[in-house]
Amino acid sequence: MEEENVILEEEGPVRESIYGEYEETLRLVMEDVFHRIRSSQREYEKVHGGKIAEHLDGRIKEDQSMREKLAMRGLPINAHSALREVTDAIGIRVVCGFRDDIYANLDCIRSWGQTKIIQEKDYVRHAKGNGYRSYHVILDVEEPYMDVDGECPGHFYVEIQLRTIAMDSWAALEHEISYKQGVSGNARLIETELKRCADELASCDVTMQTIRDLIRHENAKNRS
Ligand code: GTP
Ligand code: MG
Repeated sequence: MEEENVILEEEGPVRESIYGEYEETLRLVMEDVFHRIRSSQREYEKVHGGKIAEHLDGRIKEDQSMREKLAMRGLPINAHSALREVTDAIGIRVVCGFRDDIYANLDCIRSWGQTKIIQEKDYVRHAKGNGYRSYHVILDVEEPYMDVDGECPGHFYVEIQLRTIAMDSWAALEHEISYKQGVSGNARLIETELKRCADELASCDVTMQTIRDLIRHENAKNRS
C-alpha cells in the first residue's frame, strides 16, 4: 500500500493532451468512420459477394508523437495545429485479403456523403523506393461535433491506409526493425533485403489474386 503511494507521488501532474477538449471528439469521429467503412463494405459485399476486408485498425496519434511532428515542422504546439496542419491525428487501416479489395474499398469510400478526399497516394501501383506498399487517402469528413474552428457540424481530417495482409506484415516488421536498428555498416544490405522481401510479398499478392480470379471464373461458368 505504501509503495503504491510513492509511485503515485513520483508520477507528478498529468500534462494536458495536445488535443485538449477535442480528444474525446476525435474518438467519436473515428468510431463514426469505422461505422461508415463497415456499412459500405456490407453494401458492397451484398451486391458483389465475397469479403473485401480482413480487419480494421484505428488509432488517435499519441500525444508525444503529435508534439514531435509539430516541433519537427516548426509549428505551434497546440490543438489547432494538431488538427488543421497535421492530417493524421485520426489514422485508420483497412487490411484486405487481396489486392483488388483495396480498390473495392476505395470505391466504397468515394461513395460516402459529407466526405471530401483531399489527398491520395497509390503506393500499391507505385511502391516507395524501400518497397513500402499501401494506398493512402486523406479525408475531410463532416461530423455532428464542434471542430477546432468552432464550427458544428465540424470538419475533421482522417488518414486511411488500405493494404493487403502481406503489405501490412511487411510494414509492421520494417517499422519495428527501422526503429530498433543501430547498425550502420550493414545498412545497405538490410535495405536491399527488405526491398527484396517486399517485392516477393507483392508477387505473392498478385498470384493469390490470380488464383481467386480463376476460382471465381470457374464458379461463374459452372453456375451458368
Ligand atoms: P508523415 O509525415 O509520416 O505523415 O509522412 P508523409 O506526409 O510523407 O506521408 P506518407 O503518406 O508517405 O506516409 C504516412 C504514413 O504511412 C506513415 O506515418 C506510416 O504510417 C506509413 N508509411 C509511409 N512510408 C512508410 C515506410 O516506408 N514504412 C512503413 N512501415 N510505413 C510507412
Ligand atoms: Mg502524412
